[in-house]
Amino acid sequence: MAPIGSSILELASVDSTNAYAARGLNEGTLGHGDVVTSAEQTAGRGRRGTEWHTEPGLDLACSVVLKPEKLDAGDQFLLAKAVALAVHEVVAGYLAEAGKDPGRVHIKWPNDILVDRAKIAGILVENELRGALVSTSIVGIGINVGSTVFADHLQATSLRNETGASLAPALVLRRLCGALEQEWQRMFRDPGAVASAYAEELWAKGRFTGFIRDGAPWQGRALDVDAHGRLVVEGADGKVEALGLERLRYGPRN
Ligand code: BTN
Repeated sequence: MAPIGSSILELASVDSTNAYAARGLNEGTLGHGDVVTSAEQTAGRGRRGTEWHTEPGLDLACSVVLKPEKLDAGDQFLLAKAVALAVHEVVAGYLAEAGKDPGRVHIKWPNDILVDRAKIAGILVENELRGALVSTSIVGIGINVGSTVFADHLQATSLRNETGASLAPALVLRRLCGALEQEWQRMFRDPGAVASAYAEELWAKGRFTGFIRDGAPWQGRALDVDAHGRLVVEGADGKVEALGLERLRYGPRN
């Protein structure tokens, strides 16, 4: 298996790198470890049907094609955890190099990367299943690298804003590929270590926070994320439950 990033396709403009990667997989022109990046995305996609905006040439938009040899469909969220850890590591590394506290970087369930309360990176994993296995996965990652201005409602930040450094998105991508390859290998070798490292980096872990639960405001505290990707939360009454995205999300302006 070629390491992630052995081949990086750099486009000037594309609708979405995830959509491009899906077309490449269908046509057989892209395979395991291939990465697609584009200076501009005209229809960048976020989770839950949202749009994802990257400032052309300043931010990183990329998609990684993965073809696991054996990943159970039930372990899909383990892959999401591994990817979130890799992005976390890259962002935290840049903060540390700039003399800033890398402990401010966290993973907000399910897989947003935050610096304090501001989002710096988003991840969109799109899996294809064959029987009980994940046959292909397209891992889309957007990192705010050089953007400096964000609409207030986005609660976002960038590497530039956090470190003061002007980084080339291509440089960040190379580091990201290395981190993804490490986490990809660890995921098969030691899945428990990936799960516990992810839990360690969970945003607002153990702190009471506002959620929307079954459509209504609710206070709870995150303890962990289970193998199915559900957040394990404790309510004010001490009851612990695992709730999925269909029932639970963070409330606005946490
Ligand atoms: C989110 O937080 O909502 C996920 C954002 C994912 C954005 C990336 S940018 C590269 C790749 N191509 C897309 O269209 N989306 C992902």
